[in-house]
This record gives sequence, C-alpha cells and structure tokens, in this order.
Amino acid sequence: MLSDAVSALRCPVCQGLFELREGRPATLACGTGHRFDAAKQGYFNFLTGKGTVFEADTAEMVAARARFLAAGHYAELATALAEMAAGAIQGPEALVLDAGTGTGHYLHAVLDTTGATAVGLDISKFALRRAARLNPEAANVVWDIWRPLPMADNSADVVMVVFAPRSPAEFARVLRPGGSLLVVTPRPGHLQEIAVRTGMLGIEEGKEERLAESMSGYFDPPSSRSLDVPLVLSGSEVADLAYMGPAGHHLSQEQLSQLAASNGAVDATAKFRISVFTAS
Ligand SMILES: C[S@@+](CC[C@H](N)C(=O)[O-])C[C@H]1O[C@@H](n2cnc3c(N)ncnc32)[C@H](O)[C@@H]1O
Ligand SMILES: [Zn+2]
Repeated sequence: MLSDAVSALRCPVCQGLFELREGRPATLACGTGHRFDAAKQGYFNFLTGKGTVFEADTAEMVAARARFLAAGHYAELATALAEMAAGAIQGPEALVLDAGTGTGHYLHAVLDTTGATAVGLDISKFALRRAARLNPEAANVVWDIWRPLPMADNSADVVMVVFAPRSPAEFARVLRPGGSLLVVTPRPGHLQEIAVRTGMLGIEEGKEERLAESMSGYFDPPSSRSLDVPLVLSGSEVADLAYMGPAGHHLSQEQLSQLAASNGAVDATAKFRISVFTAS
C-alpha cells in the first residue's frame, strides 16, 4: 500500500519522515512543514523548483516504450526479474525500489509476484504518469537518481535498475543488509540486427567489467544471468524500439516514419544480462 511505501520515503529537503494525508490530492508532509501534493495521476514530484539540466524522455518517447512493452516482447525479462526479486525478499513487509522505473512495466510484474511495497523513481513525469496508473499502490516519485535518494537507510529488500542510471553508494545505503541489487544491462550484440538500421548505439565490449568496477567499493562482484529473447518485429515496432531508447532524442519524425513504413518482419535478438549484487 502507498502508506507502507511512504514510511520508507524521506523528505528531500530536510530528510524528515513523511506523514501521508489522504485526500484529493493526497499530500506528503514532513514534520518541518515541507509539503508535496500528488499530481492528479497520483505521482509526487520532489524536484519542484530545483530544475534539472537532464533531457527527460518526452511523452511520445514514453508512449513508444509503453506500446512496445505492452505488446509483450520483453515478457521473459519481466518474469525473470519477478522470480529473482521474489527469491531475494527475506521476510514480510518487503520493499522494492525501482530506480528509473519508466512506465512501471517491470515493477508491475515484480509486485504481482511478490506483493511487496514499492517506490518507483524516475526523472520523467511523462513516464511517471503511466507508472502511477499501472502501480497505484507504489509511491511513484519524480527524482534525479544522481542526487541523494529520498529514502531511509536500510529500507529496501530489493533495488532494481532496468536500463537506467546507477548510483552505487546510494543503492548500498538504502538496501538492507543481505538485500539484493538487480541490474539489467544489454550484452554485446543486443538488437544488433536493428541497431544498424536505426543508428541505435552499439554495446561496447567490457561493459560488464565496468559495471562490476563501478560497484566495487560498495558491493562484492555480482552473480549474473544471461537472457536471450528472440524477436520478430514489424516496421512500426522497430520504430518504437528506436524511439524509446536514448537514440530517440536524436531521431526525426521523418526517420521514424521511414522505419515504420518498411515492409516485412525483422528478426532480432534482445540480449540481456541480469547482475545480482548483494548488500553487506
Ligand atoms: C531506458 S528507460 C528504462 C525504463 C524502465 N526501467 C524500463 O525498463 O521500462 C530509462 C529510464 O531512466 C530514466 N532516467 C534517466 N536518467 C535518470 C535520472 N538521472 N534520474 C531518474 N531517472 C532517470 C528515464 O526517464 C527513463 O524512464
Ligand atoms: Zn522536510
């Protein structure tokens, strides 16, 4: 429930505890008097007034992501994450943090399987509008993962990061001892059949080593699992796939229409790695 998730949140201004005041809109209020009203879709924006230089995904990019994921192409990844999160949860009243939750697609699968409480963070309010509709029981909060996270120490059983930025020190701080950090990254060759058509960035070799290295001050080396998902995609699905990722910022409507108009199915393979880091 939202009220359970709120107990893990901390005021981004003074780090105080929040009280949830139900109502329309619901409000989070800390003891010092900082208040955050829920947007009408149900998410909270903790970045108000701070501004950010980050180029957040647009509504159209988020819509492309939502369409692609809803079609079930990456269902195997959602199932794998849900199983792994369920295995990592140690007791009742578990809390999952989804850092860079996007549309909330993977968190939804995890909550379905585990029944956990959750916090979803993302810098894009367009993404969070959807996440708040999909996972209304979670606290969905607009936040920049590069800042100190608005969460209590030792509050999460699982932190999941699916194709989103990683902040090792903060993940280690919010995880309970023995908790798990699940990180999904692409492996070399991920979608390479379509990367050449769309200008999507290739995956450099050595990414796995760099991930382990960036975590090394905070976590022991991870165990990891590879997952290959064969895909057969139409032109419009290829266009959505290109638009929903980082390359989406640089694609013109004309390029997208060209991709969408191409006839014939495209075979491709999504190559994921799920790395599991354990908090000490
Ligand atoms: C490729 S999407 C992945 C979204 C989701 N995890 C999924 O797999 O469907 C990356 C997400 O990270 C978010 N993001 C990027 N930089 C961020 C930051 N500094 N703080 C919070 N979220 C960020 C984006 O808004 C976007 O929703
Ligand atoms: Zn406060």
